[in-house]
Amino acid sequence: MIWQETDNQNIWHPFGPIQGREPLIIERGEGAYLITPDGREILDGVSSWWVNLHGHANPIIAKAIADQAQKLEQVIFAGFTHKPAIHLSENLLSVLPSNQSKLFFSDDGSTSVEVALKLAIQYWHNRGEERSKIIAIEGAYHGDTFGAMSVADRNLFSEPFDSRLFEVHFIPFPEGDGANTIEEFEKLCDENTAAFIFEPLVQGAAGMRIYNKSILNQLLKIADDYKVVTIVDEVMTGFYRTGKFFATDYLDYQPELVSMSKGLTGGFLPMGITSASERLVREFDNNELNKTFWHGHSYTANPLACAAANASFEILTSKACQSQIKMISDAHVDFVERMNSNDQLNQINSIGTILSMSLKTEDSGYTSSIRDRMYDYFLDRNILLRPLGNVLYILPPYVISQNDLIRVYEEIAKFLGRENK
Ligand SMILES: Cc1ncc(COP(=O)(O)O)c(C=O)c1O
Repeated sequence: MIWQETDNQNIWHPFGPIQGREPLIIERGEGAYLITPDGREILDGVSSWWVNLHGHANPIIAKAIADQAQKLEQVIFAGFTHKPAIHLSENLLSVLPSNQSKLFFSDDGSTSVEVALKLAIQYWHNRGEERSKIIAIEGAYHGDTFGAMSVADRNLFSEPFDSRLFEVHFIPFPEGDGANTIEEFEKLCDENTAAFIFEPLVQGAAGMRIYNKSILNQLLKIADDYKVVTIVDEVMTGFYRTGKFFATDYLDYQPELVSMSKGLTGGFLPMGITSASERLVREFDNNELNKTFWHGHSYTANPLACAAANASFEILTSKACQSQIKMISDAHVDFVERMNSNDQLNQINSIGTILSMSLKTEDSGYTSSIRDRMYDYFLDRNILLRPLGNVLYILPPYVISQNDLIRVYEEIAKFLGRENK
């Protein structure tokens, strides 16, 4: 096909070798489905990299963008502002932890993390206290820019850059009662600790690893004792992915900084936002040039993206969407119960609309050979699942029907049955 050849010649796709698989052309989307030019309908079981909340080509969001495009498509955000951004700030601050006071706009998940890291570091600088230590959790993924890579797992992805990443202290991923993690954190935390960054309750790219909220609460208590700036990366977990608006809502402590992206615009347009607490903003709330946060992006607070985010917010808080989220969460719980003792699985777990299971294989990790086998098996059956190595997960758009969800479960059960032979 000529389109495919041109793609092959001209385009460099992410997260795979250039000589990797031929990408499928998608012509349009409808609800939970992606549709190819020849009419093949593929169920999007991963919300197209965890962004698409309300289904593809959602008419309400599409209309909000179209309406906004005819009024104002973009305006410089330094010295100017606009109603979609102001409205979005009201929407988000109404659901963010009550200590949050200002939003800083950027472009995607990585930049929302960069902003959070820079704000945390400059917070101490503005106070005249040079705290240097930054703590993160082993296995973390926070994006692909240099700051985000620095606070993430050092692995195949980061290897060419490892020597240029800044120093970060990693605590073990919380397992069991988390005693080891807590002990390490206690040893590391002191008056020189600037920031602690974490993915709340689920490490996404590490393999949808779900961990216990009481361990996180204990870590946050220690961080609180030392006044460490806590950065919660809600890029993947935000917008009801874990069953609550933010995963942070499960916790007893309020973070200083919250990074958001992915589901923020319902999956229509790229945008990142970092929300900052009153305590943090206080150190910047002046007109001193050497205490100003000198950071910004050309498309900061793009009005189209803000209009999409406001429309997505309205849908999210609707009764219909809330009952879908509950339907998915309950169905996941039932499936976990059903598969709990499956001998092909190391473990299976769910939190809210996220279901993940790790398969017993000889080679685990991101490059596990079972990964391609699983990807092909499901795609052959018109289901898009994108395993993280030997970890298979579902993270569906909230519009998925119960029947489609059951179809995915049944295919997973069949796949495991086949592997067992
Ligand atoms: C927790 C988390 N933080 C940050 C990012 C980076 O977001 P983006 O790919 O939009 O830069 C991701 C992406 O998967 C993520 O899962």
